[in-house]
Amino acid sequence: MHTTEQLKEKFNQYLLQNSFTGKPENLYEPVNYIMNLGGKRIRPILVMMACEMYGESPEKALDAALSLEIFHNFTLVHDDIMDEAETRRGEMTIHKKYNQNIAILAGDTMLIQAYKLLGNYDDPELQVALFKIFSELATQLCEGQQMDMNFETTDDVTIDEYLNMIVLKTGVLIAGALKMGALIGGANAEESQKIYNFGKNIGIAFQLQDDLLDTFGTFEKVGKKIGGDIVQNKKTYLYLKAIELSDSKGQEEIKKIYSNKTSLTENEKINKVIKLFKSLVVEEYARQLRDAYLDLSYAHLDSISIPDERKVELRNLGQQLVNRDY
Ligand code: IPE
Ligand code: IPE
Ligand code: MG
Ligand code: MG
Ligand code: MG
Repeated sequence: MHTTEQLKEKFNQYLLQNSFTGKPENLYEPVNYIMNLGGKRIRPILVMMACEMYGESPEKALDAALSLEIFHNFTLVHDDIMDEAETRRGEMTIHKKYNQNIAILAGDTMLIQAYKLLGNYDDPELQVALFKIFSELATQLCEGQQMDMNFETTDDVTIDEYLNMIVLKTGVLIAGALKMGALIGGANAEESQKIYNFGKNIGIAFQLQDDLLDTFGTFEKVGKKIGGDIVQNKKTYLYLKAIELSDSKGQEEIKKIYSNKTSLTENEKINKVIKLFKSLVVEEYARQLRDAYLDLSYAHLDSISIPDERKVELRNLGQQLVNRDY
């Protein structure tokens, strides 16, 4: 089995060989810009790792890996427009560096290229399966993104609704990456579903950590504006738990600050909310929930019928993804 680092290296080389070319240049240049800003590359690594777990060489999974990394980057380009984010991976977002129309179209072309790459799998049964997984996860991701935005202006979001939303916006792509890899590697339907369930739970833990870092991380490591979720009134677990733990006076205060019905500047709002979160120790609750989903994901991994030594890399990667500070 290859290590995470080796798979990442293989993937980055393949990405370099497949950079976007064509005219007009200002359609493709922003695409290469975002794709080459780096990122953790977890989705392609997961595709390749799952493939290798089932006995095929990770190279066989490269096109699906590239497809999903392009798709992921497309979602980020459009997400940054929706979230009004100015920085990503420590640099300017596409809509900020170029303009909004360029970002919309760069995203569109990425979505189409991502889809097209799956056509490189000649085996008709496998190809159909891959397109089906892709179409399903892409639809669900849009549903999750719309819910995420709806929640910005919804007052009574529940923790269950939040969890359902992050499964859709984040979990299904991570789960689908593993399922695609497993099928390319020769797994049967039952096995590929088990690894999908592992991925779904890792995805929930991953998004909980993303939310934690958005509030408690550092720009140097995360590369995104700290406090962005607070500015956008995102109903994260941190917010929902803070509401749950507060008395009615406290709830009123946090809701007022969060809904922009004060004269606070952006930074004042961020600082006030962080202070409130700290006084309620919601960070600790979020960590506990995150770790509970990591444990749940491991239970699914344990149920997969391949020798334990072939699962070690995936188990370690899951741990890393959830405990990262970047
Ligand atoms: C960011 O994904 C969007 C989420 C689903 C949280 P990543 O944290 O994987 O972003 P990159 O690709 O490493 O920059
Ligand atoms: C991630 O949501 C989901 C998608 C991009 C589909 P976020 O909005 O939390 O992602 P970041 O924090 O901007 O990377
Ligand atoms: Mg978002
Ligand atoms: Mg965002
Ligand atoms: Mg985020």
